[in-house]
Amino acid sequence: MILKINKVSKHYQMGDNVIKALNNVSLEIEEGEFLAIMGPSGSGKSTFLQVASMLAHLTSGQINLKGKDVTEYNEIERSKLRNQEIGFIFQQFNLLPRTSAIDNVALPLVYAKVNNSERDRRSIEMLQKVGLGDRLQNTPAQLSGGQQQRVAIARALVNNPSIIFADEPAGNLDSKSGEEIKKLLIDLNKEGKTIIMVTHEPDDASIAKRLVIFKDGEIVNDSKIKSKKEVEKKNHNIIQDKLSKKTKLKKKK
Ligand SMILES: Nc1ncnc2c1ncn2[C@@H]1O[C@H](COP(=O)(O)OP(=O)(O)OP(=O)(O)O)[C@@H](O)[C@H]1O
Ligand SMILES: [Mg+2]
Repeated sequence: MILKINKVSKHYQMGDNVIKALNNVSLEIEEGEFLAIMGPSGSGKSTFLQVASMLAHLTSGQINLKGKDVTEYNEIERSKLRNQEIGFIFQQFNLLPRTSAIDNVALPLVYAKVNNSERDRRSIEMLQKVGLGDRLQNTPAQLSGGQQQRVAIARALVNNPSIIFADEPAGNLDSKSGEEIKKLLIDLNKEGKTIIMVTHEPDDASIAKRLVIFKDGEIVNDSKIKSKKEVEKKNHNIIQDKLSKKTKLKKKK
């Protein structure tokens, strides 16, 4: 098992209110799996990715990565672990704006204290892999959205992480660029990378092999993906369910 999330909660204190963004969530992920995470807006998907990738702290529960309990790791240990084991792809790309593609990709290697020439070699190799071998010196502003996301993917991969987390990686892209990103993710999974991807689109989710659906901070579905139709149906049912609950509440009043 590569990642074990055990009874994890993440609560936010907002004045007198507590928002239970994640409520006692457990999930076990094997090496090489490809998960799609779906669920209504506000159901805890991004919070889950942030907690599971050690970007955010949890309120209670345990996280076990590659057989090690990492729950109590301090900031230094956490960033080291993220640098070595985790690649994160954001919806908004999160590239440094005035920095070339090659230097954006090299950033994790700077933190990992890899020497200059090795840094360049690996960054170029990664950019070639995502089809940007001819755009090394371009800054993000000189690249299309799809190209920027490919730079971000190269950056997420350059340290050869064991798990890739992606929060709506195609969410800000036109459909053609989105398809390119999906193809990349499929290839990476074929190479054996473990991928955990949040998406709103059944079309995108159906490239994954396992579907996890969140609702109100809890997992309400965890099943193998057999077809796109099935993903559409499950996703639809859960959103409908939420609507019908709201209507019921209104009727009671
Ligand atoms: N920093 C924060 N402070 C307070 N509440 C937060 C914070 N981050 C998230 N939340 C709340 O936690 C809940 C889960 O949010 P989260 O961002 O995980 O949802 P999501 O499923 O990713 O939604 P979306 O599909 O809209 O991206 C929401 O109610 C949100 O308002
Ligand atoms: Mg989100």
